Amino acid sequence: MKLLSVLCSALLLSLSLSVSAGPIVIKYSHVVADATPKGQAALKFKELAEKKLPGKVEVQVFPNSQLFGDGKEMEALLLGDVQILAPSLAKFGKYTKKIQIFDLPFLFDDIDAVGRFQNSAKGRELFTSMTDKGIVGFGYIHNGMKHFSANKPLRTPADAKGLKFRIQASDVLEAQFKALDANPQKIAFAEVYQALQSGVVDGAENPWANIYTKKFHEVQGYITESGHGVLDYMVIANAKWWDGLPADVKKGLTEAMEESIAYGNKVALTEDDDFKAKVVADNKAKLIQLTAAEKQQWRDAMRPVWAKFENDIGKDLIDAALAANAKPKAEKKKSDKKAKSEHKSEKK
Ligand code: SIN
Repeated sequence: MKLLSVLCSALLLSLSLSVSAGPIVIKYSHVVADATPKGQAALKFKELAEKKLPGKVEVQVFPNSQLFGDGKEMEALLLGDVQILAPSLAKFGKYTKKIQIFDLPFLFDDIDAVGRFQNSAKGRELFTSMTDKGIVGFGYIHNGMKHFSANKPLRTPADAKGLKFRIQASDVLEAQFKALDANPQKIAFAEVYQALQSGVVDGAENPWANIYTKKFHEVQGYITESGHGVLDYMVIANAKWWDGLPADVKKGLTEAMEESIAYGNKVALTEDDDFKAKVVADNKAKLIQLTAAEKQQWRDAMRPVWAKFENDIGKDLIDAALAANAKPKAEKKKSDKKAKSEHKSEKK
C-alpha cells in the first residue's frame, strides 16, 4: 500500500513537471532594427521554428540592443542568458582570429563574392572555429558592403586624416583607420547615432540598411559610396545548450535556421539598393561617388593592413577569399537574378 502511494506521488510529480515545463524558450538577441536583413531573418526564424515545433519551442526576438548590446551579448550567450545571436563578423576577434578575414579592406569585390566565399568549404570551416570557446556557428547572413560617412566630404584617403571614426570592436578595423592617419574609436552600435550627433566622432562606416534604419544619414553631412568592406553576420549558439536539445527539436530548429538565413540573405541582396534609395531620397547627407582612380587611392592606402593580420588569419583563407572574386558562370547569374525577382514579387 505504502509502495503504491509512493509510486502514485512520483507519477503525479513527473506529470506535473512535464506539464509545467512548457515550451523551450529561445531568446534571439540582436542590435539592429527589425527592418534590416538580420532583423527580418530573426523574425522569420521565430515564425518557422514555432510552426515546425508547435508547443515545443517559444522564440523571443529582442532587436535594437533591447536585451543585450555589443560587449555584453557574447558573455550572455556563454552564461546561457540568451540562446541565439548573430553578431557582426567584426565582433568575433576575442574568440577566433580567423573570422577577422571579413574585415580586411577591399578583400572582396562585392557582396556576391562574399557569398561565394561564405559558401565555400573554407568559409564554412569557420562555423567550427570557436568550438573550443563553447560557441557553434550555423550560417552567415548578409547585410551589405560598408560605406564611409563623415561630417566633411571624403574623396581621397587624405580627407580622412585626423578625423575620428566610430568602429566596431575589431583590431583590423582599427588598423584600417590608422592606415589613413585617422583616429578609430570602438563604440557600441547602440551609441553610434549619439556619438555622430554630438561630434564625439566625425564619421563611421556602415552598410545602407544600418545607415537608413538608424538615421545615421541625418547626422552626417556626406556619404562616400566606397564599398571598401563587408558587414555580415554569423548566426551562433551556445554549443552546450545546442548539444543538450532533444533530437526532434534540434532537427526542427536546424531547418528553421537554414530557411531563415536564406530568407535574410534574400532580403539583403534585394533591399540594399532600396535602403540606399531611401537615404538618397531623404536628401539629408550628400552622396559622393568615387571615380575608379579615387577608389584605387583608398585601396592602396588600406592594403598594408592585410600583411599585419595574415599570420593570424592564415594565407590559405585569404587566398580562398580572393579566389571567390572570380565571377560565376552566366547561368548562375541568371538563377540569382530569378531568385531576386521572385523575392521582390513575394514581398509585394
Ligand atoms: C549590426 O549590424 O549588427 C551592427 C554593426 C555595427 O556595430 O556597426
